[in-house]
Amino acid sequence: MIILGIESSCDETAAAILEKKGNSIQILSNVVASSASLQEKFGGIIPEQAAREQIKSILPVITEALTQAFPNHKPYTINHKPPIDAIAVTYGPGLIGSLLVGVETAKTLALIWQKPLIPINHLIGHFYANWIGDSPKFPILGLLVSGGHTDLVLFTDHHKYKYLGGTRDDAAGECFDKCARLLGLPYPGGPQISKLASAGNPKAFNLPRPIINEPNFEFSFSGLKTSVWNLVKNLLEKQNHRPLTIDYKQDLSASIEAAIVDVLVDKTLKAAKKYGVKQITVAGGVAANQKLTSDLRLKITHPSFGGKDLGIKLHIPPPSLCTDNGAMIASAAFFQKPTKDPLSVQADPNLSLS
Ligand code: KG4
Ligand code: ZN
Repeated sequence: MIILGIESSCDETAAAILEKKGNSIQILSNVVASSASLQEKFGGIIPEQAAREQIKSILPVITEALTQAFPNHKPYTINHKPPIDAIAVTYGPGLIGSLLVGVETAKTLALIWQKPLIPINHLIGHFYANWIGDSPKFPILGLLVSGGHTDLVLFTDHHKYKYLGGTRDDAAGECFDKCARLLGLPYPGGPQISKLASAGNPKAFNLPRPIINEPNFEFSFSGLKTSVWNLVKNLLEKQNHRPLTIDYKQDLSASIEAAIVDVLVDKTLKAAKKYGVKQITVAGGVAANQKLTSDLRLKITHPSFGGKDLGIKLHIPPPSLCTDNGAMIASAAFFQKPTKDPLSVQADPNLSLS
């Protein structure tokens, strides 16, 4: 079974070809075009501009993915179908303009190539990045951490899940991005903060760990962002509004990263314990954060946590499969039935898991 996966929910235009043989899912090609340089210039994503970039990139990216996977099958025309069995596409959540580009392209290709169409929830797609090359075992506690979402989900089987909780306001990635902006760092802020944090002191500033002690699996990051805003304002006033020194930026970054990671790790482990889960998967752009993955790994294997080794396995995709890509969409599609009527598929910007 070979599937073409298309992802265009935000600022990345992505297409990938994956093959499933038995239980093993392998990548034949995985192409991602990003408008990151434009966002760096404008300090974030402008939805209208992101959609325009999607329109420019979608066909070249799909063509490149097909060419890399099947070098002998060029060119791809209506009468020359590529050797794929189905097309999968993200239909939400995301930016409506961006989503529409992928969805309408996928519908058109499904019709002219006469292939089944499999609409995929972007968040479920992130979860299935964990199935590429290797497969975790159910029941699984999934932590989804991206620029738009922070969710804890208990999966008991493919497409059978219980939503445990999510963020009440900003997502973890959004908090990284907004705090980075306060420090004068370019977008996207997560990788920037993470890089500076490696040389900083995580205890330099005492930042809040919002709702860490509440007995639920919810998150809240907007208060943390406000604390960082106040802290930066005070530091700037103290030094007569001269730009923050690199030492301050490193210590602030390390303190911000530690605060976000502490909350994510704490709530994830509490959920794993409560539901007796022995497999945790992490997915989404923030899963590329080294401190998050190393702290989780340390806590589940460290004998001092809960008095014994918890015997929990941790599965995290490689960083290139944590951020948005088409491979995760194709991977999810191996476990989902195609839609009966491709034309009925509609982009849904507010699709959720809850
Ligand atoms: O999953 P993703 O690529 O797009 C969405 O679906 O939102 O996630 C993007 C988010 C951004 O907020 C970015 O700052 C964050 O993931 N991110 C990171 C790291 N790499 C990406 N956050 C912290 N540390 C990183 N290394
Ligand atoms: Zn995403």
